[in-house]
Amino acid sequence: MTKLWGGRFTKETNKLVEEFTASIEFDKELALEDIQGSMAHVQMLSDCNIIPKDDAKTIQHGLQVIQNKINAGDVEFSVAHEDIHMNIEKLLIDEIGPVGGKLHTGRSRNDQVATDMHLYLKKQTEMIISLLTEVQSSILIKSKENVQTILPGYTHLQRAQPVSFAHHLMAYFWMFERDKERLQDSLKRINWSPLGAGALAGTTFPIDRAQTASLLGFDKIYPNSMDAVSDRDFIVEFLSHASLIMTHISRLSEEMVIWSSQEFQFIELDDSFCTGSSIMPQKKNPDVPELLRAKTGRVYGNLVGLLTVLKGLPLAYNKDMQEDKEGMFDTVKTLVGSLKLLAPMIHTMTVNETKMYEAVSKDFSNATDIADYLVTKGLPFRQAHEIIGKIVLYAINQDKYLLGLTLDEYKEFSPLFAEDIFKLLQPKHVVGAKKSEGGTSFEQVESQLALAEKLLYDAVPSS
Ligand code: ARG
Repeated sequence: MTKLWGGRFTKETNKLVEEFTASIEFDKELALEDIQGSMAHVQMLSDCNIIPKDDAKTIQHGLQVIQNKINAGDVEFSVAHEDIHMNIEKLLIDEIGPVGGKLHTGRSRNDQVATDMHLYLKKQTEMIISLLTEVQSSILIKSKENVQTILPGYTHLQRAQPVSFAHHLMAYFWMFERDKERLQDSLKRINWSPLGAGALAGTTFPIDRAQTASLLGFDKIYPNSMDAVSDRDFIVEFLSHASLIMTHISRLSEEMVIWSSQEFQFIELDDSFCTGSSIMPQKKNPDVPELLRAKTGRVYGNLVGLLTVLKGLPLAYNKDMQEDKEGMFDTVKTLVGSLKLLAPMIHTMTVNETKMYEAVSKDFSNATDIADYLVTKGLPFRQAHEIIGKIVLYAINQDKYLLGLTLDEYKEFSPLFAEDIFKLLQPKHVVGAKKSEGGTSFEQVESQLALAEKLLYDAVPSS
């Protein structure tokens, strides 16, 4: 089969080389972006009188026909034409004849592929931002139902201080909020147009880069053509933001695995989000959060993979850069799939308030509060800490919790104790007393929820 670049060659390409160098199997994902870029390019060529207007119209019509065929699943791409760019150009020439060959005037596949990638990531980034909003909204709904639900807060996975379940869940809301901010910020750089950079040096034709940029919805052009064709920073940024999002997803997933275990029973995942065991009939496995946790690995891998491809790469375009795609597509697919599952999984889980409360009633997570109590009576915190440590040890030896000791027992350790400690030691009181800004007291959690709601509500454009 004749190659679009065959002029200089006297031999057919080795079949293995053809297969090894071709990217069509994966970059066909960029078909619509490629046509979008070509439409803008040909419009500009026509407006700048670089090609005749009629030829431009024929090309645009041809591209439209190809787009319709692609949407209808009616085209076959071929490895012999290597990648999506040459496949579409070949389809165009087959469709409208040699005039199709004018499309590539003043352009190279190097600025073309970069343009496609920018268009693709812009679309995906915007979609991922809205999926993150859906996750946040399901966190917010669950949190609103659980302001008064109390569970142990942990440090070192040891019971530390009781908190509102809403407070715990909302920590993830803010992680995802920062993730959205990062993605939003990355759009500034995704929105640079490489089109018109040519192979690396620009072009002899009087092109209008500002026009193609604006037709494609970009708000800036790369000021340096060599940078334009060799920059993949925006993809690295995306993979890095995706890695952090997966880190957050995996932490939440891990908590869900722990909370739904027989040992905790703090939550129950909906049957529709679990699977069974082929041998043990009693099992209900949290496969979804387990897989979410595990899929984080491939996303990190894609980030490290691309960084490694780019490391030490000389300017400008190198074929190495074709390796930027599969990891990016895989990351988008993994992240989108994960976020789509996470929102309904949170939404449908059952919160076992009783089990959570049982847990805080049978622990020493109110110990700090009783130390604070002695401080309010004038004792330096360090001494109070020492006394409470001794009380905890005493209680453990008596097989009791702090609420189970008598006032007389307390007074053995310090005369400062009075009857009011028993009210103060109640889990609800312990949580309610953490009134500092951003703390877990019910009022603080309510104002946090109001802030989050405003943020989500304000982000939705009014209809
Ligand atoms: N398929 C190539 C890629 O993804 C397109 C650019 C090819 N450019 C070249 N000069 N061979 O990177």
